[in-house]
Amino acid sequence: MEDLPCVVGGHPSIQALTALVWKVAATPATVLISGESGTGKELVARAVHLCSPRAGRPLIPVNCAAIPAELLESELFGHARGAFTGAVAARAGMFQLADGGSIFLDEVGDTSPALQTKLLRVLQDGNVRPVG
Ligand SMILES: Nc1ncnc2c1ncn2[C@@H]1O[C@H](COP(=O)(O)OP(=O)(O)OP(=O)(O)O)[C@@H](O)[C@H]1O
Ligand SMILES: [Mg+2]
Repeated sequence: MEDLPCVVGGHPSIQALTALVWKVAATPATVLISGESGTGKELVARAVHLCSPRAGRPLIPVNCAAIPAELLESELFGHARGAFTGAVAARAGMFQLADGGSIFLDEVGDTSPALQTKLLRVLQDGNVRPVG
């Protein structure tokens, strides 16, 4: 089995991780990566993308904790013209930009329950509905 890009380590746990990454990367499955701070979650997200058939398309990382809650929805899903004050033109969201590639929702557990419900819909049926 080929090593993962960027991920270093020969420990059996890294070997098991390597096998799992190759397995899920071949599929369009949504992957939840959990672990202690600094254990390489972002590295694994990158590896999943690079080992996948989507590697030639963009990987779009979104730090959900760094974007104000009231902006996050339109940032992710995009918005229509006039959806809210200042929305002078329609704008594509991160999901649209990641189309054909991968989206990495960093710190997704910090988003509101309301937004998580909307995320679930998108992840289940693969369609985004822009705000407004
Ligand atoms: N197995 C590994 N091989 C190579 N580098 C690693 C490995 N694990 C962690 N690192 C390095 O450790 C640092 C932290 O990794 P990363 O940012 O992916 O962790 P994280 O789980 O996302 O952390 P946080 O919880 O703080 O967001 C990075 O510089 C990463 O390259
Ligand atoms: Mg991280």
